[in-house]
Amino acid sequence: MTLGQIPVIDATETRQLHEFHSVLPKHTESVEPRPTNPVIIFEDFCLYYGSKVGVRNITMNIYPRAVTAIIGPSGCGKSTFLRSINRMNDLIPHVKVTGRLLVNGQNIYDKRINLINLRQQVGMVFQTPNPFPKSIYDNVAFGPRLQGIRKRSRLDEIVERCLRDAALWDEVKDELNKSALALSGGQQQRLCIARALATGPKILLMDEPCSALDPVATGRIEELIHKLKSDYTIVIVTHNMQQAARVSDWTAFFCMGELIEYGLTRDIFTNPKKKQTEDYITGRFG
Ligand SMILES: Nc1ncnc2c1ncn2[C@@H]1O[C@H](COP(=O)(O)OP(=O)(O)OP(=O)(O)O)[C@@H](O)[C@H]1O
Ligand SMILES: [Mg+2]
Repeated sequence: MTLGQIPVIDATETRQLHEFHSVLPKHTESVEPRPTNPVIIFEDFCLYYGSKVGVRNITMNIYPRAVTAIIGPSGCGKSTFLRSINRMNDLIPHVKVTGRLLVNGQNIYDKRINLINLRQQVGMVFQTPNPFPKSIYDNVAFGPRLQGIRKRSRLDEIVERCLRDAALWDEVKDELNKSALALSGGQQQRLCIARALATGPKILLMDEPCSALDPVATGRIEELIHKLKSDYTIVIVTHNMQQAARVSDWTAFFCMGELIEYGLTRDIFTNPKKKQTEDYITGRFG
């Protein structure tokens, strides 16, 4: 199977370094991701759950209009890292943060930050599709309505644009009033992406967005991620090494709450500098 220019390999194939050469996007000079103008900057950032480390001493830049994959063994802090970017961890009691995390130049842990605005700027898609028990239309219109948009023609326009951007429009355009819960898992996840796009974010966080989906639905989401990165900065957590290699430009490898290695996906998968990274991506641990 081929998704545009991205070759897809069977998930059952063995996880050996040399295989990644065949799935890596073929960057040409003009599309080589460049480390310029970061949109998200972690400066010695630590997050603790009470006395327990979630992530620590993270110093890292995330670049615009690119996909950054976060990989690492279970419990290494991937979700904590991701949730830090829109302060979803605030909902957990006893969370303590040190260091700084800048989004578009603003320290988002500053007391003056408006959390509603932040979460409109930084959308999130979760592991299990979680549409509201409402119609397809009302799911996408939910955020814009909260933002005060009432005019039906304006809402219609947003709903259509976001469903088109999430590659779902053609499948649902004649049944927008149908319950979102009647869609397939893959369609529900694309609806959740459309819902996240509807508040006009510039950054999209995805925490294992395909782990509940079959290979065909996964392929569609990967294709969508590839398309969306021309407009959005995407940070995706994945346990699937081939997925990280296929969809991302940058890869960060975490272990026990720390950032072990970060760089161009191609370099991380073909020429990792740290033994821990190599052991993880070749399946020797994790
Ligand atoms: N709500 C919480 N309260 C206390 N500790 C937590 C909480 N959430 C995560 N942790 C701890 O923080 C550490 C990092 O967890 P996190 O969920 O970020 O890992 P992860 O890499 O996303 O794991 P997985 O791959 O299993 O999803 C773990 O030790 C975990 O037990
Ligand atoms: Mg997680």
